[in-house]
Amino acid sequence: MKTSLTGIKPTSTPHLGNYLGAIRPAIELQRGHAAFYFIADYHALTTLKDPKALRSYIYDVAATWLACGLDPQNTLLYRQSDVTEVFELTWVLSCLIAAGQLERGHAYKDAVAKGEAPNAGIFNYPVLMAADIILYDADVVPVGRDQKQHVEVARDLALRFNHMFGEATLVVPEALVTEAPLVPGTDGQKMSKSHGNAIPLFGPPDELRKAVMSIKTGSERLEDPKDPETSTVFALYRLVASDAQVETMAADLRRGGYGWGHAKEALFEAVEAEIGPKRARFAELRANVDELDKILTDGAFGARKIARPTMERVRYAIGIDRHPPRELKSTIRIKP
Ligand code: ADP
Ligand code: TRP
Repeated sequence: MKTSLTGIKPTSTPHLGNYLGAIRPAIELQRGHAAFYFIADYHALTTLKDPKALRSYIYDVAATWLACGLDPQNTLLYRQSDVTEVFELTWVLSCLIAAGQLERGHAYKDAVAKGEAPNAGIFNYPVLMAADIILYDADVVPVGRDQKQHVEVARDLALRFNHMFGEATLVVPEALVTEAPLVPGTDGQKMSKSHGNAIPLFGPPDELRKAVMSIKTGSERLEDPKDPETSTVFALYRLVASDAQVETMAADLRRGGYGWGHAKEALFEAVEAEIGPKRARFAELRANVDELDKILTDGAFGARKIARPTMERVRYAIGIDRHPPRELKSTIRIKP
């Protein structure tokens, strides 16, 4: 079975855009793969310098993914920071990559272009991410388009390492670019925590209703026909309602006599049907941080079982360790 791995940065409490664009598709993908999901807490530190917020987001993210169906029996859920081998591997890999390649990294380049003074963590971000991937022998890395370049850095590094130190020592990963829908926010722009247009995922139902009712619409009168294709309410409805429901709303809007208020009410109900049943589970998990810690610690224990042998191969291959690891697959050709 192939190993699929992906990281989630705990930089906010997840919103509906994260759920529909990332969480729901990733959870569907856990079937058929040995899946690793980790909370990329040290990646969050590149931008987030608020300890209270970071601590809280880590558990928000863990509880959200579990409430949305991530099954810790079949999937490893852990914190990046709990498997410290990743930082050792980050150093090794950073010695194999040209600084120029990191200067071309788009997050770093964008920050420089905006006139910001990015920290060295942002510069090294792709190397930590490569270590995240390579340490666990990941075959496929499902990511959004924006992360493809980073997975390619990991791929380059694994290939370079194998070429320099021994064929098949490291598994060469491949990006699986997920074509997730772009979820619009209440103003019709991409939903994002930084745009103030996000619909909260697990807030109380009246908060959800208020956010749905605040979605911008046209100013047509109730009796006017309306174009579903240009409507944010309809775009969101499409992502949560059944095909039959979507067709009905489209016809109602086109016919006229169906107001934006009606459409918003239908949207609220469809979102509530999708996430309502998960809300109680989220609240229960989020209130029990000890239980979350236990799940995350068990996950880290499992993750380490893969990480440690990888790091042993690396340490021997580069000449830090004197002896080869005890168990080495016959396909691995570490240079003597
Ligand atoms: P934000 O834009 O709110 O800062 P992040 O960048 O933390 O969100 O995104 C976390 C994950 O959620 C990523 O996989 C990203 O692609 C996905 N995501 C975020 N916003 C949306 C959106 N509006 N539509 C689809 N996917 C989204
Ligand atoms: N950089 C990714 C993001 O911003 C998160 C991440 C960290 C990741 N390490 C990873 C994703 C390893 C895939 C594999 O979304």
